[in-house]
Amino acid sequence: MRLGVLTGGGDCPGLNSAIRAIVLRAAQLGDEVVGFEEGWKGPLEGLSRPLSTADVEGIHAEGGTMLLTSRTNPFKVERGPERIAENLTKERIECLIGIGGEDTLGVLAKLAELGTKVVGIPKTIDADLDATEFTIGFNTAITVATDAIDRLHTTARSHKRVLVCEVMGRHAGWMTWASGIAGGAHAVLLPEEPFDPQDVAEMVKKRFAAGKRWAVIAVAEGAQPIGSAAVLKDEGKDAFGHVALGGVGAWLAKDIERRTGVSSRHVVLGHTQRGGSPTALDRLVATRLGFAAVEAAHAGRFGTMIALKGDEPVPVPLNEAVGRLRTVDARRRELSRALWGLD
Ligand code: F6P
Repeated sequence: MRLGVLTGGGDCPGLNSAIRAIVLRAAQLGDEVVGFEEGWKGPLEGLSRPLSTADVEGIHAEGGTMLLTSRTNPFKVERGPERIAENLTKERIECLIGIGGEDTLGVLAKLAELGTKVVGIPKTIDADLDATEFTIGFNTAITVATDAIDRLHTTARSHKRVLVCEVMGRHAGWMTWASGIAGGAHAVLLPEEPFDPQDVAEMVKKRFAAGKRWAVIAVAEGAQPIGSAAVLKDEGKDAFGHVALGGVGAWLAKDIERRTGVSSRHVVLGHTQRGGSPTALDRLVATRLGFAAVEAAHAGRFGTMIALKGDEPVPVPLNEAVGRLRTVDARRRELSRALWGLD
């Protein structure tokens, strides 16, 4: 077979592990692989190159993506889907493997409806894809965020301060929830549930009154304070209609200081969560998903995404994965709420 591969949307650690796995498995099965560069810009503009096993040697431990990425939306480009179909035909691609989140896989699903043979692999630090228990990048991102929150405890304690850590994740609080709990944050504020800033201030006051003179707060970039307008960056929307989030950490630190008189600072983790080397888990599962994607193409399981279900990679219809945003459920939110204010 002749396979195409691309990575789209925000980069994250683990993408190279998946690309390597695809190329290695393809070589074992006698396939050829063509890499398309810069996300959907690659098949739109014919930016491609053959990928051999030598090209992917040793890349599995490197962050980023050797194929580069972009947030190009071919459905917003004149004759976008047609141009993609033409370039795939020109390259004699028999199946295109797209590695991405809701936007990239959403495009893949639409192309599948138009007759292109595709297989998807789930990737997003936000972990907001339905139908899969794993997305490449999430584990590394929460490891980075947990380490940052751990570090904030010692400096907050030394200065008798509040430190607010703003975590990425768009409208899903998975990263904040996971790293907030793992890092022992005293409050975990999620986009799924608007928070009352007075509750946060009361928690801080209570801790200080009890002699615990510091607090660390994990706040999702998409979290909303009750009674205040959305805190948004003024950067317009991207090609998929997403607004740029961020700023709530700075807002909250100021608000806490105003309400409690306690010195408060904020940290925005931002793109540090997407950089650096992937964790062992991200490398391992990305490798399994890459192998499974090539095997799904051979089995003719087009129009699917390789989900991890019960620790097994299985093809599921692409539409199941992108139809609905997966957010933090009430049971998990109860857990973070139960830890509120505790050490
Ligand atoms: O979707 C991944 C993500 O890192 C979000 O958590 C974040 O809001 C967004 O991408 C940032 O996008 P950009 O890299 O375009 O600034």
